This record gives sequence, C-alpha cells and structure tokens, in this order.
Amino acid sequence: MKTIDDLDVSGKRVFVRADLNVPLNGTTITDDGRIRAVAPTIAALLERGAKVVVASHLGRPKGAPDPQFSLAPVAVRLGELLGRPVAFATDTVGDSAKATVAALGDGEVTLLENLRFNAGETSKDDAERGAFADRLAELADLYVGDGFGAVHRKHASVYDLPARLPHAAGLLIEKELGVLKRLTEDVRRPYAVVLGGSKVSDKVGVIDNLLGKADRILIGGGMMFTFLKALGHEVGGSLLQEDQIPVVLEYLERAKANGVEFIIPVDTAVAGSFPDVKTGTPVEDFEVVDVDAIPAGKLGLDIGPKTAALFAEKLADAKTVFWNGPMGVFEHPQFADGTRAVAQALLTASTPPGDAFTVVGGGDSAAAVRTLGFDENKFGHISTGGGASLEYLEGKTLPGIAALEA
Ligand code: 3PG
Repeated sequence: MKTIDDLDVSGKRVFVRADLNVPLNGTTITDDGRIRAVAPTIAALLERGAKVVVASHLGRPKGAPDPQFSLAPVAVRLGELLGRPVAFATDTVGDSAKATVAALGDGEVTLLENLRFNAGETSKDDAERGAFADRLAELADLYVGDGFGAVHRKHASVYDLPARLPHAAGLLIEKELGVLKRLTEDVRRPYAVVLGGSKVSDKVGVIDNLLGKADRILIGGGMMFTFLKALGHEVGGSLLQEDQIPVVLEYLERAKANGVEFIIPVDTAVAGSFPDVKTGTPVEDFEVVDVDAIPAGKLGLDIGPKTAALFAEKLADAKTVFWNGPMGVFEHPQFADGTRAVAQALLTASTPPGDAFTVVGGGDSAAAVRTLGFDENKFGHISTGGGASLEYLEGKTLPGIAALEA
C-alpha cells in the first residue's frame, strides 16, 4: 500500500477521504477526536504545497441534503486545529464545490459538504456509485484514503473513487492498521477482549473469530442480557435478542472447548425506564441488583460494582487488551460507572508496572473515554473506527483498504 510519501502532491488537488462523523449536540461537536486524528495528514499535505479537498460523511442522511447533518461546524473546528482557514463548500459535486476547489491556492484547504447528501455515495448499485465517484474524481488529481472509521463501507468515496485516481493511504490509516496487526499477529498474552454496546448481533462475527484467539472475553453493555438469559437468568425489561440465544449458547460451549474464559456480569444497575441522557435528570428508582434478582419491571442499564471489580481483576495481568462498546448508558451520570471502571482498568493495565498494550476500538467507546475525562494519550491506542476495527478483527476484507492496496 502506498503512503503519502509516495505521492508528489505539490501544486496538485488532493482529495482526502476522512471520517469526520463526529457526535453533535445541535451544532456543538461533543467529541472532536476524529477531526484531531486526521489533521496531521491534512497538515502534512498542505505543508508540501497540496491543494487539499477534504470530504466525509456525517450521520446517516437519506441521500439528500439535511441541515442537521451538515459538516459546517466541522469546517470551523478543522480550521482551528490546522491554524488556517478551511473554505466550506455547501455541496459535494455542485457549483459550490467546483468553485471552492477552483479557487484553492497551493497549501490551501476546503471541506466539502456531507457526501451522503448524494444517493450515489452509499448506493448498492455499482453504476450509481460509479457515476458519483466520476463526479468526485473531477475535483482532484490524487486521492488519499484516511477515513479509517468508514473503510468497512463499500461507498463511492471509499471504494470507487480510489480506483479512478492515483492513490495512497493517509497517516491515520497507516497507524490504525499497524495497531490492528499487533492485535492479530504475535499477540502478547493473556489477551483480553472487552465487548459492550447494545446488540449481540453486531458482535457475533468478532466473537466467533476471537474464540480462536483471545484468552478472555468480558461481556458488558446491553448485549450482556442476552448472555444472562441464555444462562437462565430473568432479565426484566432489559434489552434482549432472543434469536441470538442459540448463538450465545454455542459460543459458551465452544469457549469451554477452546479454553477461552467468558466473563459475564454478576450484577447490574437497573431502573424502571430508559434515562434522559440529554438532561441527565437523576433516575429515582435506580438500584443495583445481582443478575439473579433483576426485577420484572426494570431494565439493566450498566454493569454493577461487583462486575466492575471482577473485570478489573481479569484485566490486571493482561498483556493485550482490546475494548469495544460501552458497558452501559455512559451518557447518563448514573449509568457511567461501569464504562468508567473499564477505562480505568485498561489504564491501570498499561501503566507501569503494568505493560499491557491497550486498544480502545472505536466510536462510542472512544468518545466515552474522552467525555469521561480520561487522558487518551495514556492508552496504547484509541481507534477512530468501531465497525471498521471489529470487521478487521473478524478477518473480513475491508473495501476501503482493498481499494488502497489495488
Ligand atoms: C462510524 O461512525 O462508525 C463511521 O463513521 C461509519 O459510519 P456508518 O456506520 O454510518 O457507516
């Protein structure tokens, strides 16, 4: 795979596919991690005299302009981080984009509006995606793929556009791939994987693969209730994927046969209804219960303190840790303790005398680490890609990486 050092970018229009899909509260960016992660690539290209055209998706608009998913606030933050103005094009391949790109001088940068305002970006139809990629290709001479968080998507700007322009991987993708290699080749043991998030179905592929690789798999988040139900517990109104119970049972059997330890929560923080994460209003019927005593009318929203202590113990001597998915509804203060405890356990494992290589994989867990006030530099690596790192660890081919390798 070529890197930006292999491209002669001076005076050229360089299309940088970034993943600037950041969480927003209105127009306020609540976690700018993904913008900071790609800034070094853009800065390096600008330094070398490129005319840089940055593009990204944000959220999941339906193939047409939708102001709530505008990248305009991101252009402002990117400008602050780069210490120079970022011209914002109010469309992607229309008059504004064409004019803004044409006006770029060497060492200047523009951000295009949300790529997903065009149906062609995410289309399943090769011709429709290709037609959109053709129009994007008119805006640039070279392509740099650096949107690691989106490389698992077979989208026009990720997969089809690099086939149309000389291309290379950006600094972020290089770094992310280096980390993922360390999680798959010559792994230092014990290798512990912490999985959370809401759905088991999102994680079946990775668990399947990890059953042959990890030593310990710790389960938290909404998906824990499907494991608990499979083990015979009543889970009240907690999130449950009944159809995944046979899969979970098969995994538990296979883990036993392979000598992989599954660590399932022993207690949980529950409430009568889902908390209001926008206001953070305290939930009055909050309580912590053992997993064999979840009240029928309540739902589990976090792991409990006994589980947090158990997880910390299971991570303390690990040499490699991969964590994907929050342990609970961390956006609400009453249900953030489990996620905070896991973040702290990773930190402890990687702080001397601990020498674990700790990786926080992606979107929600990365945002959780930062919004809960942890110093991200103290972790081995905080990935910008949730789905992308999971699919890599599942052993799948990532379209955006395959396209850069071609
Ligand atoms: C992410 O947030 O995981 C990436 O930006 C990809 O977004 P998507 O799941 O909407 O394709």
